[in-house]
Amino acid sequence: MFTSSFLALALAFYSLPQHAAAATVYMAGDSTMATSGGGWGSYLGQYLSLSVVNNAVAGRSARSYTDEGRFTTLINKAASGDFVIIEFGHNDGSAGSGADNGRQDAYSDGYNDTNVVYDSSGKAITIHSFNYYIENAVRSLQDKGAIPIVSSQTPNNGWTGNSISDPPRFVAYAAEVAGNTSVAYVDHYRYVAQAYEAIGESTVNTYFPNDHTHTSAAGANVVAQAFVRGLLCGDSQLKSHVNSAGKGVPNGCL
Ligand SMILES: *[C@@H]1O[C@H](CO)[C@@H](O)[C@H](O)[C@H]1NC(C)=O
Ligand SMILES: *[C@@H]1O[C@H](CO)[C@@H](O)[C@H](O)[C@H]1NC(C)=O
Repeated sequence: MFTSSFLALALAFYSLPQHAAAATVYMAGDSTMATSGGGWGSYLGQYLSLSVVNNAVAGRSARSYTDEGRFTTLINKAASGDFVIIEFGHNDGSAGSGADNGRQDAYSDGYNDTNVVYDSSGKAITIHSFNYYIENAVRSLQDKGAIPIVSSQTPNNGWTGNSISDPPRFVAYAAEVAGNTSVAYVDHYRYVAQAYEAIGESTVNTYFPNDHTHTSAAGANVVAQAFVRGLLCGDSQLKSHVNSAGKGVPNGCL
């Protein structure tokens, strides 16, 4: 009798949770996510039961976020169990034949593909692919026990008939990096496109007051909801931290 209740007590004690700090959700991206740009990162926290730290910075690409040490800062800060949402593409395209713009990636998606570009003083710079920069960040975060989520870039306000136009190449690259590193992928482009197509072009036009890339507050909230929809439809561990507001976001799985 004594022995069995002692055992039960001992088992209960040992199964108490360790007082681990709640995980944090970090976000790395560009102006379409950044708080300063009114991006969707400011609207994600209301749909999660974890706190969100939005480290997106306007104008950045996978390359410039890397070269400026911003991934290194994030990797140093992220603890085991923290989530890191990584979404780039808007600023990663080729700068053309002029001087390097500090943010274009090497053309193509091979991890080892490089290009040589020249800065305005004529100095040669070797640049790497989108996949190289993202894969390195993902693997370093995984080494710390953090949980990266690779998300594809948001669509611009561009339509082909009643549909959002086809994605730029960085959407497929994001899917490929996620596959190659075995991390969760959210096809944010397609989930936002689904939401925009349900809402319709005339209303979606009002979400883009300044240009075809940057959303209004109402638009950014739709973009955040579409990310949550993608999470709920995927296999990321973050989906167990979606709160009741998040579970109520519109639309279905792709
Ligand atoms: C990239 O290059 C390194 C060094 O040459 C090599 O070990 C690695 O296998 C290459 N990776 C891919 C994906 O080709
Ligand atoms: C990534 O996956 C693609 C197929 O999706 C494959 O062609 C490519 O070689 C892989 N790259 C690396 C670096 O493993």
